[in-house]
Amino acid sequence: MPNNDLARLFEAALTAQRAAYAPYSGYRVGAALRTASGAIFSGCNVENASFPVGICAEAAAISAMVAAGERVITEMLVLADGEALATPCGACRQRIREFAAPETPIHIADAGAVRMSFTQSSLLPHSFGPDNLPPTRRG
Ligand code: THU
Repeated sequence: MPNNDLARLFEAALTAQRAAYAPYSGYRVGAALRTASGAIFSGCNVENASFPVGICAEAAAISAMVAAGERVITEMLVLADGEALATPCGACRQRIREFAAPETPIHIADAGAVRMSFTQSSLLPHSFGPDNLPPTRRG
């Protein structure tokens, strides 16, 4: 992989994917993001016997970022096996939108390589965000 920064994101997502807890779907997902400081945070999907309680890999990575005191995603990568790529679910697109600029790259990979790249706003056009709220309600 030519881009070293992207290769580090890929490796972090692959490592997280290996830790995924997905006994019900068998669909293991890893996500990794870089923040404004250059730090990388990762997460995996964590399913539950009560199915709706499970969380997505993207949500886990974002939680790790926020828990570490960071709030700006500058690049993100989501990785899963199979030909149908793990493009983020609708709820995760909204979660990413909270912390990423419209032009922030979101890469989708399988275990071999990055297969597609999007911008945040192309994944969630005309989105609702903090600026849609009255100033007194913004985070
Ligand atoms: N999943 C993610 O972790 N991220 C996505 O963007 C799509 C779906 C997980 C949730 C569930 O554990 C499994 O993949 C199958 O839906």
